[in-house]
Amino acid sequence: MMATATAQTPSPLPKPEGLEGVVAASTALSHVFGEEGRLVYRGYDIHELAGRASFEEVAHLLWVGHLPSHTELVDFRARLAANHDLPPAVLASLRALPPTAAPMDALRTGVSALGAAESARGDGLFDEEPDLDEAIALAARVPAILAAFFRLRAGDEPLPARPDLNTAQNYLYQLFGEVPSEDHWQPLDTYLVLLADHGMNASTFTARVIASTGSDLCSAVTGAVGALKGPLHGGAPSKVLDMLNEIGSADQVDAWLQSALDQGQRLMGFGHRVYKAEDPRAEVLRGLAERASDPAFFALSKTTEERALAMLEERKPGRRLYTNVEFYSAAVLAAVGLPGDMFTPTFAVARTVGWSAHVLEQVANNRLIRPQSEFVGPTDKTFVPVDAR
Ligand code: ACO
Repeated sequence: MMATATAQTPSPLPKPEGLEGVVAASTALSHVFGEEGRLVYRGYDIHELAGRASFEEVAHLLWVGHLPSHTELVDFRARLAANHDLPPAVLASLRALPPTAAPMDALRTGVSALGAAESARGDGLFDEEPDLDEAIALAARVPAILAAFFRLRAGDEPLPARPDLNTAQNYLYQLFGEVPSEDHWQPLDTYLVLLADHGMNASTFTARVIASTGSDLCSAVTGAVGALKGPLHGGAPSKVLDMLNEIGSADQVDAWLQSALDQGQRLMGFGHRVYKAEDPRAEVLRGLAERASDPAFFALSKTTEERALAMLEERKPGRRLYTNVEFYSAAVLAAVGLPGDMFTPTFAVARTVGWSAHVLEQVANNRLIRPQSEFVGPTDKTFVPVDAR
C-alpha cells in the first residue's frame, strides 16, 4: 500500500500570511522604512527628490544607478522621445476594444500587443533578455497606449507625441490635445516621481517572478499591470474619489464613514502592509493637493482624512492605520484633469519605470523564483470510475 500523509501533517516551513515579512529578493533600487515612514530611491530620501528632480531624472536614477549629468539627461530625453510611436498592431488592438473597457484592461492589452508586435519583427526588441533600451522603449509607450485608448473611446483619433515635451507634458497633451500649463504638468511630474518605485510591492514581485523565468519585459509588465489593478494595491484612488463624491459635504462625513465601517468596509486610502507610520508620499501629495485642487474639494478631503483616522484608531486600536499614497493621489490627479478611471493607469505610467528597473536587476543576477506551498489537502483518495461515482 502507498504511504499516505494526512492534512494534519504539520508543515516544517513557517507560513507567513500574504508573505508578510518574507524577503523575496535583494534590491538596491528602493526601500520602504515602514516604522519610520521613509522611502528611499537609490540612497535618496523621497523628500530630496519630490518637487526637485524630474520624472526623467528619477527614471535615469533607477535604471542606470545615478542622477544624470546635464549631457546625460539631454541624451536620455532624446532616447525616450524616439520611442513614443505605437506599432499599428497595438493601435488595432486598442481600436478593437469596446469603449467601455476599463483603461487598466486596455493598458494590459496594449502592453501585451506591443510585446507581440515588436518581438515578431525579430530585431531583438522585447524578445531577448531585457535591457535598458527595452525599458526606455516600454516606458515611453505606456502613456501613449493609455492616451490612445482614452481618445479612441471618446471617438477621437490618437495624437502623436511631441518630442519637445517631457513625460508629464506629453501624457496630458496626448490625452487632451493641448499643451498643458505648468500648473497642470508640474503636480503630475511630482506624482510620477513619488510613485516610480516602492520596494517589493505586489506588482513588482509579480514582474520579478515573471522575469525570473527568463520571460520578456512586456510579459513581466503585463503581469504587473494585472497585479496593480486590484483595490488592495493600486486600484484604490478612484474609489477614494467615489467615496468623497458620495460623502459630498463636511456634514455627511461622520455618518458616511460610520456606516461604511459598520458594514465592515475598508476605507480606501488608509492602511498599508509595510508603513506603520504616515506614508511619506501622502505628506507630499497632501501639499500638492492643497495647492492644485479646488479648495472645497481639498477641505472635504482633509476633513474626511481627519475623521477617518480618528475612527480607525477608535475601532481598530493598535493596528496603526494611517493615510496611504492613494488618498491624496485622488485629489492631485483630479486637479490635473484626469477622470477617476485614469488614476490607476497613471500610477502604472510611473511604476513602469520601477517594474522595468526591477526586471533589469532580476535578470542581472537571476535565480528562478519558485517558493513552496504548505499542502493542506488529503493525499489518500482512491480513484472511482465515473459510472461508479
Ligand atoms: N479600513 C478599515 N480597516 C482596515 C483598513 C482600512 N483601510 N486597512 C486595514 N484595516 C484593518 C483590517 O480590517 C484588519 O482588522 P482586524 O485586525 O480587526 O481584522 C487590520 O486593519 C489589519 O489589516 P490587514 O488586512 O491584515 O492588513 P494588510 O497589511 O493585509 O492590508 C491594505 C494592507 C491591503 C493596504 C489595507 O490596509 C487596505 O485594505 N487598505 C484599503 C485599500 C487601500 O487603500 N489600498 C491601497 C494601498 S497603497 C498601495 O498599494 C499603493
